[in-house]
Amino acid sequence: MLELVNVTKVFNLTGAAEDERTALDNISLQIKPGEFITIIGGNGSGKSTTLNIVSGALLPDKGKVLLNGRDITHLSESKRAAYFGRVFQDPMKGTAADMSVLENLEVAFVRGRMHSPIKWGFSNSDKKYFIEELKRFDLGLEDRLNQKVGVMSGGQRQALTLLMATMRNRPNFRMMKRDYILFSGKEEEVARKEFEDEFNLRKQELNNKLATIKADVNLSKEDRKDQITVANHEFDVAIRAKFDLTKQILLLDEHTAALDPKTAKKVLELTDKIVKENKMTTLMVTHNMKDALTYGNRLIMFHLGHIILDVSGKEKEKLTVEDLLKMFDEADKKAEM
Ligand SMILES: Nc1ncnc2c1ncn2[C@@H]1O[C@H](COP(=O)(O)OP(=O)(O)OP(=O)(O)O)[C@@H](O)[C@H]1O
Ligand SMILES: [Mg+2]
Repeated sequence: MLELVNVTKVFNLTGAAEDERTALDNISLQIKPGEFITIIGGNGSGKSTTLNIVSGALLPDKGKVLLNGRDITHLSESKRAAYFGRVFQDPMKGTAADMSVLENLEVAFVRGRMHSPIKWGFSNSDKKYFIEELKRFDLGLEDRLNQKVGVMSGGQRQALTLLMATMRNRPNFRMMKRDYILFSGKEEEVARKEFEDEFNLRKQELNNKLATIKADVNLSKEDRKDQITVANHEFDVAIRAKFDLTKQILLLDEHTAALDPKTAKKVLELTDKIVKENKMTTLMVTHNMKDALTYGNRLIMFHLGHIILDVSGKEKEKLTVEDLLKMFDEADKKAEM
């Protein structure tokens, strides 16, 4: 669970009282794991400031940011990086122009490994995994692995940034256990026991399966190898699904605004797919009302540093673009009075 508690942020560029701008005025927000929230609101209403405070790029003047019960308000952006993926509006921002597609992916892969000793590069199976992921984008990136990102289109760069922001870095079990104990928000002993019990149970299951496979004389050498791979993979996935806390939160700030309509749609659909598959908690800022209604399961509207609408599920499904425009109008009128 991600929480903002009474967060206020005031900007003052000159130091003069009349230049004070309250970007966020005492906002509180509770975000459940796996929620996909679309965020709308006029220019300067506080959307980006909220994302910046969540990611650690900005410090609030008042209030707290909690992740799974732990106060991360003062945790640096780089230390949070393993838990947050970000994609900005500007396609130039998320990727390094002078590096190839593969090199960019490698950097993101390494960056995600929060506490691990830096190990440069992928293993061959990692590389294969990411080529498979790139293919799904249908932008031909998998054929341009060694090309510099700087020569690519905005859409291609944005798609790559999305992959970099969402790729699971797959820490080993030892790291996963340590992070789970640190960040699950549970008592240390409770978290440790939970991990160890589940791990031992699954390991026992795996060993039984492997014994059965090895004892099966009817299997060809190839089939046996395949089945062993599948069993190991299932074990891996089961443990990760429960205990891997890395990269659970995705922050998207108008990430398709600079793309042509067709590419924007493609990147959005891909976003939706990745979010659902990985059950990522997602905050997506957009100026497109239709997208805000189509995607996600919760919608939040900002106005002058306040949250003036927060709807989920069925209630969100019922909303129309006209409803939203009307609310904008009413909020503006109220502010003028
Ligand atoms: N670094 C900064 N320095 C000074 N003022 C800032 C800074 N960042 C934001 N602000 C101000 O805070 C307010 C909220 O800005 P924010 O960027 O959060 O708006 P937004 O909702 O993302 O708007 P947009 O739709 O234009 O992106 C605005 O008045 C803005 O001018
Ligand atoms: Mg913004």
